[in-house]
Amino acid sequence: MKPKHILIVDDEKNQRDILQLILLGERDEAGNPLYDVKAASSGQEALRLFKLNRFDLVMTDLKMHGMDGIELLNELTQMDSSIPVILMTAHGSIDSVKEALRGGAFDYLEKPVERAQLLDTISRAVAKMRAVDEEIVGVSDAIERVKKMIVKVAVSSSTVLIRGESGTGKERIARAIHKASPRVNERFQAVNCAAINENLLESELFGHEKGSFTGAHAEKKGLFEIADKGTLFLDEIGELNVSMQAKLLRALQEKEVTRVGGTKAIKIDVRVLAATNRELELMVKEKRFREDLFYRLNVIPIDVPPLRQRRDDIVVLMDYFLRKHSANSGGKPMKVSADARKMLLDYSWPGNVRQLESAIERALLLAETDEITVEDLPMEIRDVARIEGSGGFRLPAEGIDFEQLEKSLLIQAMDQTNWNITRAAKLLGLSFRTMQYRLDKFGLSRPGRGQKEGSEEDTADEES
Ligand SMILES: Nc1ncnc2c1ncn2[C@@H]1O[C@H](COP(=O)(O)OP(=O)(O)OP(=O)(O)O)[C@@H](O)[C@H]1O
Ligand SMILES: [Mg+2]
Repeated sequence: MKPKHILIVDDEKNQRDILQLILLGERDEAGNPLYDVKAASSGQEALRLFKLNRFDLVMTDLKMHGMDGIELLNELTQMDSSIPVILMTAHGSIDSVKEALRGGAFDYLEKPVERAQLLDTISRAVAKMRAVDEEIVGVSDAIERVKKMIVKVAVSSSTVLIRGESGTGKERIARAIHKASPRVNERFQAVNCAAINENLLESELFGHEKGSFTGAHAEKKGLFEIADKGTLFLDEIGELNVSMQAKLLRALQEKEVTRVGGTKAIKIDVRVLAATNRELELMVKEKRFREDLFYRLNVIPIDVPPLRQRRDDIVVLMDYFLRKHSANSGGKPMKVSADARKMLLDYSWPGNVRQLESAIERALLLAETDEITVEDLPMEIRDVARIEGSGGFRLPAEGIDFEQLEKSLLIQAMDQTNWNITRAAKLLGLSFRTMQYRLDKFGLSRPGRGQKEGSEEDTADEES
């Protein structure tokens, strides 16, 4: 296990030294240090160190000369909103600590800091980090920030909105938050708002009374009630219709639900996590998503970058999925050929982690030896590699005229197919409509003929 990096900030040298000594003395069973510790004597110095190093945790004194602990907390949070900060404070200033906890501090320790308490607080924080490390595989700076954010938001009951493209791991992150939270022993209930018919969703979420609608033969608890004391994960929240948005907002604000056909309000204690791959802000502007609900959900945002923007993660995820799905190859350890590896590392992964996982899962089934080769990879990955490798499409250092290239490709495709739009579109991997749109854009038509005629001739063969 890699040691966790801790920054101690205190303007009293004695304090710094003692804390550092205690933490540096901690070892795992194999005798390896658990913590790597640096110390700073002021907020300014802490900020300098923070810019140069990667820390997992910061512990700062509250009262210091110059920049105090709260100011430092704010500065640090601005640089990296995910960093967990533990405030150390004398007994008298608990009120300002409570304030700080609301403002984003992770935990606090009372001074004088006792050895047992220090180790207890730190090891609890680190245990959470390790639990998250297990759940979320990745080593990129981007995913490390997401992991720290998970640890940090896990302690509270605030609503978290997880945003990211499809397959980036949003549900996985929601589970990790639950596992690192005090609700870990209660239920984690996921519901996909897009998968359930609008009429049923209300009774799914809030339950119904017997006889409240045709088919409601018995009373039924909703997911909010079922998830009581636990976590409810509302996936694809952008798909909720306006009336459900209003009902959800009410449940979140009042912390109570009313079953369909019921009159009694039922108190609920549920932590809500939501996820979407839609631009909710845009939907708010277009009045398709309630602004008040957006703010209610977006108390803490977690943005998950697409895999192509955190390429360092590809190789570790690849190894992880090779192990995870090793049963597909009869349990024997599998290698990946150099060519296949390069192809996987260079690919853009539009379907993100999910696409990578299924590519590996499938390759393990197909591989005939103990090595995955290019032939075992899905067609779409090989195609891209072929185009990029052919040399014709390499972007030259001096750049290109994109429109000109597009136009030239369109003309070549049309010439090769004797101006059959359907077949030309296939050559370029476009739909008939997109092809036609592009031809119109450049005003392209069969030499010596009007545009209309060209497309008329083609309509007979339009099938897609
Ligand atoms: N960092 C990760 N470490 C390990 N597994 C991951 C990671 N990210 C994603 N996965 C795995 O990839 C798959 C897709 O992840 P998940 O379902 O969480 O994505 P999602 O963002 O919810 O996708 P969608 O928007 O399509 O619902 C799952 O099998 C998940 O376990
Ligand atoms: Mg999902």
